[in-house]
Amino acid sequence: MKVELVDVGFTYSPGTPFERRVFEGLNFKIEPGKFVLITGRNGSGKTTLLQIIALVMKPTSGKVLIDGQDAWTSPRKWRRKIGFSFQFPENQFFSLSVFVEVVYAPKNFGIKSLEDSYQRAMALVGLEPGSYRNLIPYVLSGGEKRKVGIASIISHDPELLVLDEPMVSLDWPSRKEMLSFLEKWKASGKSAAVATHNTELFKKLADDILVL
Ligand SMILES: Nc1ncnc2c1ncn2[C@@H]1O[C@H](COP(=O)(O)OP(=O)(O)O)[C@@H](O)[C@H]1O
Ligand SMILES: [Mg+2]
Repeated sequence: MKVELVDVGFTYSPGTPFERRVFEGLNFKIEPGKFVLITGRNGSGKTTLLQIIALVMKPTSGKVLIDGQDAWTSPRKWRRKIGFSFQFPENQFFSLSVFVEVVYAPKNFGIKSLEDSYQRAMALVGLEPGSYRNLIPYVLSGGEKRKVGIASIISHDPELLVLDEPMVSLDWPSRKEMLSFLEKWKASGKSAAVATHNTELFKKLADDILVL
């Protein structure tokens, strides 16, 4: 899957006293299988841009093309191929078991083999599927929660992963595990867009860096 931003601009609350123009005339591509880092100081628009890439927000100007088509003519079709989470995915837990949490998206998309989806996602993030299955997500450690959060956005087998500051608030062992997950992700031929204020952490993986 190839994602292209063509002359993309975004303004919050246009035409009001709270108008805030974040960026304008942005052009860049995420080629299939590539790992793109998005960086810039606080408030530069990283989170805004990720939401545009993930088709959560529509740009106020310009176009998002996926495989050459205007993504906003059938956003639902494309969202199925994207795994996106807001920063701190673990803050959005709502289930009483890891299994239910992880298979929410595939269930929603009508995927039949929920067990396969669960096993595959947990293996990728490096959690033993059986022993976590019936645990309450809230009781897990910080690193485990982050992994379950990631598992829940890749369980529907997307082609593009979109992550906002995935290393924030993780300790060193968990950061290493996050990197090894991202390496596996990339090795499987899938693409990723990752926002970070610390490009150093991802320099082995990055194919491209966009500075806002
Ligand atoms: N929902 C919103 N309404 C109005 N302004 C916003 C909103 N979200 C973010 N902003 C503003 O847009 C700018 C970019 O924010 P953001 O995309 O969160 O940047 P970053 O992730 O790089 O810190 C900031 O000035 C921020 O205050
Ligand atoms: Mg942000």
